[in-house]
Amino acid sequence: MINQLFKKKDISTVLAESAKGNGGLRRSLTATNLVALGIGAIVGTGIFVITGQAAASYAGPALTISFLISALGCVMAGLCYAEFAAMIPVAGSVYSYSYTTMGEILAWFIGWILILEYLFACSSVAVGWSGYMVSLLHGWGIDLPQQIAYATFDHTDKGWIWTGSIINFPAVFIVSTVSAFLIGGIKQSAFINNVIVVIKVGVILLFIGFGLSYINVSNWHPYIPENTGEFGEFGWSGILRGAGVVFYAYLGFDALSTAAQEAKNPQKDMPKGILISLLICALLYVSVTAVLTGIVDYRELNVAAPIALAIDRTGEGLAWLSPLIKLGAIAGLSSVILVMMLGQSRIYYAISKDGLLPKIFSKVNSKHGVPNNATVFACIVTGIFAGLFPLHVLSELVSIGTLMAFTIVCISIIVLRKTQPDLKRPFKTPLVPFVPLLGAAICIMQMVALPWSTWARLIGWTIIGFIIYFTYGIKHSKLNNK
Ligand code: ALA
Repeated sequence: MINQLFKKKDISTVLAESAKGNGGLRRSLTATNLVALGIGAIVGTGIFVITGQAAASYAGPALTISFLISALGCVMAGLCYAEFAAMIPVAGSVYSYSYTTMGEILAWFIGWILILEYLFACSSVAVGWSGYMVSLLHGWGIDLPQQIAYATFDHTDKGWIWTGSIINFPAVFIVSTVSAFLIGGIKQSAFINNVIVVIKVGVILLFIGFGLSYINVSNWHPYIPENTGEFGEFGWSGILRGAGVVFYAYLGFDALSTAAQEAKNPQKDMPKGILISLLICALLYVSVTAVLTGIVDYRELNVAAPIALAIDRTGEGLAWLSPLIKLGAIAGLSSVILVMMLGQSRIYYAISKDGLLPKIFSKVNSKHGVPNNATVFACIVTGIFAGLFPLHVLSELVSIGTLMAFTIVCISIIVLRKTQPDLKRPFKTPLVPFVPLLGAAICIMQMVALPWSTWARLIGWTIIGFIIYFTYGIKHSKLNNK
């Protein structure tokens, strides 16, 4: 029994399986597509919303330093992802990597955590999208009835309550629309993503470029506001807490690795896709933060749309940019949902291929080369969560799931270097074990800082996962039934 639980898949078997007709998936993504998919997945709520709140509450203008620290943690994990994605370019990402390094039960556990990450990331960003859409429509004089514009349930001090709403219709709408595009094929999805990325990066560059001349340097003094006496409220501890908070803004580059089996030249292009998209985003984030805190006093930035506030502060000067920012945010959030939905469906596909989930999820539509059932299933579950629950409930679990995945990837790199030193590694993480150890340490530190309630939910989710594994997966596992 124990042997069965920890049985590992051979890397050569994983590669041979994916080589057989590529599992029905199409290899059509170029390096540029991959970088664009990375940016598509990364730039979203983080920059359009969280930046202002983090500057106002934790770090002031020094949030730029927080962004750099957080980027450093992500680059460490990104380098490890890059080694794996080039070495084992298959759809399952960390799930498949850990199947080869840590055995079946841990692979199932991490696959289950990835489902948590992508499911809750997609649904929380869809709720954020709904919020922006409702406000844009309101600006045009169109008000959606309350019953279809908000979450059905909420969790307050009094426990779960019914909000009076039937369903968050815009959230369900965007999840369904994105899924429909995904079913059209990876090429079409990548094209749509490219268009969206041009719009959102364009809008951000316009803000940086035109915003520069409205900067009042006195807003940058003091650059690191004095600590209030509480840990995490300004000063260096505030910068650190800010780094933990803006970590969310970088999430998404990991979802890219689930598209490795659809890349034309994964060995060369996956590392490029992951690392270049991370670096571009870090540069954009630091620049936006500098301009934002230069135009508006950081104390006033705790608002839902900080960039819009900065534009208002320029008076008539940048008024023309205001609707474009809203459009950029709406477009930006759509592509985050697109890539995260892609990731979610590919994880169902990969797990089902190994027999740990029903076979139906690994059926690939021969015309478009898309795992249709997995995509439709992802759409239904995400739609239900996005339609029924509010943002704060959904977003809590995203970070802990991601941090757990990053930690496992970092540790797996060290394990695999020891156990299989001769494997062909088209991309090598530099300075092993220093880089993966530092990456894992940064992630574990951030996980430990999360509230107990988040851990309790994670434990609940894990228990459900193990029930599924012991009642279904273990009996149907292809590896164990060989
Ligand atoms: N990085 C993504 C965002 O900021 C999750 O929306």
